[in-house]
Amino acid sequence: MRVGVLTGGGDCPGLNAVIRAVVRKGVQDYGYEFIGFRDGWRGPLEGDTMPLDIKAVRGILPRGGTILGSSRTNPIKVDRGIERIRENLGKFEVDALVAIGGEDTLGVATRLHEHDVKVVGVPKTIDNDLNATDYTFGFDTAVNIATEAIDRLHTTAESHRRVLIVEVMGRHAGWIAIHSGMAGGANVILIPEQNFDVEEVCAWVDSRFRTNYAPIIVVAEGAIPLAGQMVTKDQTLDAFGHVKLSGIGDWLASEIEKRTGHEARTTVLGHVQRGGTPTAFDRWLATRFGFHAIDAVNAGEWGRMVALRGTDVVTVPLEAATRELKTVPPALYEEAKVLFG
Ligand code: F6P
Repeated sequence: MRVGVLTGGGDCPGLNAVIRAVVRKGVQDYGYEFIGFRDGWRGPLEGDTMPLDIKAVRGILPRGGTILGSSRTNPIKVDRGIERIRENLGKFEVDALVAIGGEDTLGVATRLHEHDVKVVGVPKTIDNDLNATDYTFGFDTAVNIATEAIDRLHTTAESHRRVLIVEVMGRHAGWIAIHSGMAGGANVILIPEQNFDVEEVCAWVDSRFRTNYAPIIVVAEGAIPLAGQMVTKDQTLDAFGHVKLSGIGDWLASEIEKRTGHEARTTVLGHVQRGGTPTAFDRWLATRFGFHAIDAVNAGEWGRMVALRGTDVVTVPLEAATRELKTVPPALYEEAKVLFG
């Protein structure tokens, strides 16, 4: 059996650990051969491949990024995309595919499965917003990076008696914000799931200054203020209703300064959350996902993807990844609010 492997979408710490586990177990236990497709779906679309064997995966476990490269190429939007992939899989004598990616990548895998391609999926996103799995690898790394940033910002906030705002990733879900905010002792956490009242944020800022040194606010990039509070002359909204141009963190800092008179600064963590070495948890989860993905190939579980349920790795239909987004439940947000102000 010859198995093709690809990684699609935004990169994520732990991708290399999955690739290594798939290849190691596939070669050792099942005697499979592997071929790597470069840059997500662009690889099979254009026939761009690279060798993938035990030697190729040596030493990659702790490395961030992906040795296969990644892209957001979507063959569904390309003329004859699905047919071209099928032709190239035939040309390279690929019997089965392991597709590692998020909603978009797994959506393409679902379509290919409907066209009789033998495919197994591995879910990936630092945002942890895929409903089919309790956790995705990459999330723990992002949370740890954000938590370390918050820890560091506390002392400088205290020294200058400033409001320090940390903008973290999460366009549609506030998982990174809520986990890192709670772990880092933030005084306010703002997430996309609940539109926030900037007046209430300012009240929390004032109350924090009365009892302590200075507040730390964690805001997810997709957090949205209440209607009517958000747009000023130089700020417009993107297609999702998010503040663009300056970003929500900068907008919030200027509003807080205007409304409370306290100095405010924003740190946008951005792609730092996605780069570099994965945490031990993410390496462990990614490795288990890789093992179970190649077991699923061996069992002929086409059109399915691996998922973490409790402490078990199971397989679920690929469509489960794209069916609905997993968002922060209101009860968890209420729990975090006990620490606000
Ligand atoms: O989905 C992962 C993610 O890192 C989001 O948190 C973020 O909004 C987005 O990707 C950034 O995408 P890009 O790297 O293409 O700018």
